[in-house]
Amino acid sequence: MSPVMNCSWKIIFLLALALIAIQYKAIRNFSTKPVHTCPTSGPLNCTLMQDMEPQDRACEEYSLFNYNGSRKTHILILATTRSGSSFSGQLFNQHSDIFYLYEPLYHVQVALLPKLILSRNPAERRIMMGANRDLLRSLYDCDLYFLESYLKPQPTNHTTLKLFRRGASKALCTPPVCSAYGPADINIEENTCVKQCGLLNLTLASESCKERGHVAIKTVRVPEVGDLRALVEDPRLNIKVIQLVRDPRGILTSRIETFPDIYRLWRMWRATNRKPYNLDESLLTTICDDFLNSVSLGLSRPPWLKGKYMMVRYEDLARNPRKKTEEIYDFLGMSMDSNVEEWIQNNTRGGASEVRDKFGTVRDSAATAESWRIKISFDIVLYAQRQCEQVLDLLGYRMVNSSDELKNMSFSLVEEKPFPPFL
Ligand SMILES: *[C@@H]1O[C@H](CO)[C@@H](O)[C@H](O)[C@H]1NC(C)=O
Ligand SMILES: *[C@@H]1O[C@H](CO)[C@@H](O)[C@H](O)[C@H]1NC(C)=O
Ligand SMILES: *[C@@H]1O[C@H](CO)[C@@H](O)[C@H](O)[C@H]1NC(C)=O
Ligand SMILES: *[C@@H]1O[C@H](CO)[C@@H](O)[C@H](O)[C@H]1NC(C)=O
Ligand SMILES: *[C@@H]1O[C@H](CO)[C@@H](O)[C@H](O)[C@H]1NC(C)=O
Ligand SMILES: *[C@@H]1O[C@H](CO)[C@@H](O)[C@H](O)[C@H]1NC(C)=O
Ligand SMILES: *[C@@H]1O[C@H](CO)[C@@H](O)[C@H](O)[C@H]1NC(C)=O
Repeated sequence: MSPVMNCSWKIIFLLALALIAIQYKAIRNFSTKPVHTCPTSGPLNCTLMQDMEPQDRACEEYSLFNYNGSRKTHILILATTRSGSSFSGQLFNQHSDIFYLYEPLYHVQVALLPKLILSRNPAERRIMMGANRDLLRSLYDCDLYFLESYLKPQPTNHTTLKLFRRGASKALCTPPVCSAYGPADINIEENTCVKQCGLLNLTLASESCKERGHVAIKTVRVPEVGDLRALVEDPRLNIKVIQLVRDPRGILTSRIETFPDIYRLWRMWRATNRKPYNLDESLLTTICDDFLNSVSLGLSRPPWLKGKYMMVRYEDLARNPRKKTEEIYDFLGMSMDSNVEEWIQNNTRGGASEVRDKFGTVRDSAATAESWRIKISFDIVLYAQRQCEQVLDLLGYRMVNSSDELKNMSFSLVEEKPFPPFL
């Protein structure tokens, strides 16, 4: 490369940095961390980069950029409880260049609203979503200290034992954060990680985040994609939303099994075939309303979501994990690495047998995605179909008209329907 070309490249790079710095100042200060002031005025010359003070050099290493100087991608897996989100999260968790966090918003919810199911109260929702967005913004910036105000007990010396499901995040179990595992290990036991790694050093976690090319966060605590508009439009971030959906009848069935207390009356209905008069219908309708609002908005392709939204049906992912994962990575403009491929290979039907279920995900993902059909009564399914008719139609899930149809697994309830990403 000639010196001239070299020089102009540097100027462009510095100008880009300066532009970002201006945007930063203009919009809002970033979380709790002091914002580095990058050189923004005066003639830029070719020696500037070398002459920069160490503090200014930090601009170059700014955590929203990766080591190549290109923008990091901030992946948000927008899911709901029992929609196959642990399985889907693994497709990012296993990638060696992605810093993946599993449900960090749990801590906001526990601090502000200690209830399991998201509140329907609009005021409460607004407050929580404000806090959620602030936390997401900081985490995408690799500022893990921001979590500390939500952790109990409050961490001392930036270390904690209390991060929710720390072991579900490979980056928090592998170097530089913890040396109990190698970087390519795809078999990390959640509980073993916590035991072996001990205190989580949030300074090291932030460093690990900065070193990686991209950040992915999975959450079931954001009801609708519309709640994310402020983040998606934030010019400092480079958010891509992967909205994971699943047949609401499957989600309902799975939740009935997983949360026996909350769904006590639904269990009674299933056992007695009689619908309890005081059934809490919102435990079903919330699922469908959130999907309907969110997916209708996403599929209506508003300009602010352009290039930033992809809807994925869990059933499609489960039936064809490799192909679907490739599509997702294509949309992100990234390629999956050998860790992801190996994980898919070993944890789905395509792979060898006998690796047991370690992640709340399962080997025969396709069978599991539809197994709800033999665990629920036709009565409840009919009711769910009436309540969720619109969203079933929108997402391409077939209604059943008889118990035989429901239980006949060679009759698929998932219509072939492409949902191309909004590019
Ligand atoms: C940003 O931070 C600077 C210095 O820390 C402070 O003077 C300024 O008021 C802050 N701006 C906003 C919008 O908070
Ligand atoms: C960034 O650099 C790494 C290593 O030099 C390279 O493998 C990777 O393809 C680059 N990524 C981009 C997006 O340029
Ligand atoms: C925090 O670190 C300081 C200095 O290393 C040490 O003196 C102090 O005991 C630590 N606090 C706790 C609670 O571990
Ligand atoms: C956490 O890691 C940082 C960076 O390596 C180190 O300086 C700090 O002492 C560690 N904190 C504790 C409490 O070990
Ligand atoms: C994944 O499966 C391959 C063979 O299919 C095996 O060689 C490898 O050890 C497995 N990896 C893990 C981590 O279980
Ligand atoms: C079930 O009934 C609906 C509405 O009556 C009808 O549109 C649908 O084709 C039926 N499904 C099957 C599989 O017969
Ligand atoms: C199950 O569905 C398939 C495909 O629609 C149909 O051919 C078959 O007869 C059904 N089996 C029973 C037992 O109803």
